[in-house]
Amino acid sequence: MPSTEPQSQPTTPSQPQSQRQPGNDHDQHIAVIGLGNLGRVLAGTLLDAGYRVTVWNRSAARAEPLVERGARRAETVAEAVAAADLVIVCVLDYAVVRELLTPAADVLAGRVLLNVTSGTPEQVGDIAPWVAAQGASYLDGAVYAVPQTIGTPSAFVLYSGSPAAFTAHRERLELFGSARFTGERPETAAGYDTAILSGMYGMFAGFFHAVALAETYGITAADLTDPLVRWLRDAAAALPGFATEIDAGAYATETSNLDINAAGLASILSASQAQGVPTDLLAPLQSLFTDQLTRGHGADSLARAIESVRGVGGVREEAGVEVAG
Ligand SMILES: NC(=O)c1ccc[n+]([C@@H]2O[C@H](COP(=O)([O-])OP(=O)(O)OC[C@H]3O[C@@H](n4cnc5c(N)ncnc54)[C@H](OP(=O)(O)O)[C@@H]3O)[C@@H](O)[C@H]2O)c1
Repeated sequence: MPSTEPQSQPTTPSQPQSQRQPGNDHDQHIAVIGLGNLGRVLAGTLLDAGYRVTVWNRSAARAEPLVERGARRAETVAEAVAAADLVIVCVLDYAVVRELLTPAADVLAGRVLLNVTSGTPEQVGDIAPWVAAQGASYLDGAVYAVPQTIGTPSAFVLYSGSPAAFTAHRERLELFGSARFTGERPETAAGYDTAILSGMYGMFAGFFHAVALAETYGITAADLTDPLVRWLRDAAAALPGFATEIDAGAYATETSNLDINAAGLASILSASQAQGVPTDLLAPLQSLFTDQLTRGHGADSLARAIESVRGVGGVREEAGVEVAG
């Protein structure tokens, strides 16, 4: 893989980054491939910051508003890649990423490819070596923002892959939201993303159950949501403490233990059944608590439920599911 460390001679836009000036100037040329909801905001953010931006999108008309703001529209993906030091790909999925980049393989060498398309670690593990084999540096980005919040203080992006590419382009990456490098393995950011989004969907499951139950008591979703969100913020504040216990494998607690939480959840399930609300979303959590109680851990922290999720001596193992390690 060629060095992504910037050199000190002036160059033309078509030269790859390895031959270009240090990263804190606006001489950097950036390509954005994929101008959907997210990609066009990333491109617009770079234009607003004064960078030279080349754009490509399957539906060419989507490029027009950006061209009016100063972007150059490439006719092909290869033309966009050839124009840029940093190539940002933001499309539907990894099949599209591969489909679009394959015809541009010959012009990837020496450039940085930043892929912010959402995917799994397995998908990143497939594309990253291919990009490296073309002589480009690979960065993966997991975006925690919606298009409307890109560039605002709440936005952040986790990156993994080439440390040199991250360092060289950090100034540009910070335009999208605070930029955090999570590791040299290209798959790491996608690992964070898959895990973080699974936490988000767990929260949504709780919300949907809460709304269905509240409605049976004559409480609207809107009325419920204000106090629910206030309480969830407090509940989320307990997670770093749980994380410390989990990483240490030490679950002794003086406060809210598994016994009290299992009793609380049992009463919620019972109330839900009485109201005719299905318990499918919450009952699996009760199974984890019950598993730990039957193992004699009721006095331990709620965080001990992780031992049953991992399946080490827990419910998955009892169900006959093979457990790694
Ligand atoms: N939107 C967000 O808030 C957000 C946040 C974090 C991460 N992401 C991730 O960012 C990626 C893009 O999201 P988005 O919201 O921008 O999606 P989107 O609005 O649906 O845009 C999808 C993009 O992919 C292109 N595309 C789809 N199929 C294609 C094909 N076969 N060949 C060429 N181009 C194709 C579309 O081109 P056309 O315009 O021609 O259809 C469009 O540019 C996704 O992986 C998403 O998970 C999005």
